[in-house]
Amino acid sequence: MFSRYKKTTGAEPVQPAQAVQTKAAPAPAPKMARKHATAAKSATPTPADKEKRRKERLAEIKLELHKSLLDNLNLAALEKASEQDLRAEITAIASETLTEMEVVLNREERQALNQDLYDEVTGLGPIEPLLKDDDVNDILINGPKQIFVERKGKLSLSEITFKDEKHLLRIIDKIVSAVGRRVDESNPYVDARLQDGSRFNAMVSPIAVDGSLVSIRKFKKDKLGINDLVSFGAFSEEMAAYLQAACATRLNVIVSGGTGSGKTTTLNALSSFIDNSERILTIEDTAELQLQQTHVGRMESRPANVEGKGAVSQRDCLRNALRMRPDRIIVGETRGEEVIDMLQAMNTGHDGSMTTIHANSARDGISRLENMVAMAGIEMPIKAVRSQIASAVNLIVQASRLQDGSRRMVSITEITGMEGDVISMQEVFRYQRTGLTPDNKIIGHFTATGVRSHYSERFKMWGYDLPPSLFEPTVPEY
Ligand SMILES: Nc1ncnc2c1ncn2[C@@H]1O[C@H](COP(=O)(O)OP(=O)(O)OP(=O)(O)O)[C@@H](O)[C@H]1O
Ligand SMILES: [Mg+2]
Repeated sequence: MFSRYKKTTGAEPVQPAQAVQTKAAPAPAPKMARKHATAAKSATPTPADKEKRRKERLAEIKLELHKSLLDNLNLAALEKASEQDLRAEITAIASETLTEMEVVLNREERQALNQDLYDEVTGLGPIEPLLKDDDVNDILINGPKQIFVERKGKLSLSEITFKDEKHLLRIIDKIVSAVGRRVDESNPYVDARLQDGSRFNAMVSPIAVDGSLVSIRKFKKDKLGINDLVSFGAFSEEMAAYLQAACATRLNVIVSGGTGSGKTTTLNALSSFIDNSERILTIEDTAELQLQQTHVGRMESRPANVEGKGAVSQRDCLRNALRMRPDRIIVGETRGEEVIDMLQAMNTGHDGSMTTIHANSARDGISRLENMVAMAGIEMPIKAVRSQIASAVNLIVQASRLQDGSRRMVSITEITGMEGDVISMQEVFRYQRTGLTPDNKIIGHFTATGVRSHYSERFKMWGYDLPPSLFEPTVPEY
């Protein structure tokens, strides 16, 4: 099968080599141009130097091999090849190239290299291990040499890099073409959902100035539930009990927050309070929600194709959803003209609907809704808009990513009606910050504000008799 890859003697058999050894490679610095196994013994570099050099040399070899692979592999045939065949093909090409380069690797190094090459060909190259790592939430790429990774709420620069911008572009292209999209100079940004459910956004030159910008929000197989969020300190048990009553009694809820603050996660967790018998329709730009209920219909909007045709907006989905006899409608994020239909749905019998918006506080969230209505071209006096919002929205849950990386629900606010031209609201729970530890962790606690819930009677009528103590301010224990 691999007859075109002539086997040469010497280099391929497993050698007990400690480090990567080369024989007079043409370009590298003289210190790297060492002779086979004995050469390592005669030099006197420290183990750290050796390790560093080994890594550098491995990186060089990998680049060379990537190039050789791309030159030699028939990419069209490759799509149909079985994993076994593909791995065998890669091993053959790698071993031939290693022989040509007069490089001897030990078994482990060869295996690692073959895996990298396999990832490069079938997966997403250098970022493949990050995608497989369950601890990683977000991957943020700023050009080929800078990849930031978020683990446990903290962003840090990873050691992984792409070879160059071309390499990064090739991976971007691979990702977007797999989901039927395109990104290039004339169409320089794309937002898509990957096959594994991860959210992907890329922006390339000339809009991205210093190399392509990519952000990936990894799909979490095990979504965080209410109990997880309580145990992570995202909100308190009292808040959870209150939210359970609010969702079960079909209040209309908006989760507000900044980017990456945990809005979608919160929405998903809140949805667990919905009764299994209800028919829920979800509408999202990028389908991320994972509802546990049995009766769920999921919709995902679609951007226009390259000819500018075929777009199906969230608003289109929402309008259609209203004809699909839903008990509840959940819109992943309201960010445009669909706000009109969302408010109408909330006002006309689809109680218990939920959505998220991008805003920094409950009051700010209301202004956002007003602005979205205005932008949708609806000419309505501001008072009419506000009264529609006031009667549609019952609750705003504010999510926030604090400066220490922790994500918390910093406020739960009830909309209580209108006072003159102003929407009146009351905060029922909040996160009270009290200080900072020496290692910059925020100190604080959740507390009720002491006001009685506007919806107490409703809760009682629906069988959720929340004890008054739930609404009493908490005195923190230190
Ligand atoms: N309380 C939490 N504790 C730890 N991780 C969390 C918490 N809430 C959310 N996350 C994680 O943070 C990341 C961002 O969360 P999420 O997608 O819910 O944010 P978002 O506000 O919807 O973001 P965007 O504005 O990009 O839509 C996810 O990977 C999620 O798993
Ligand atoms: Mg989100």
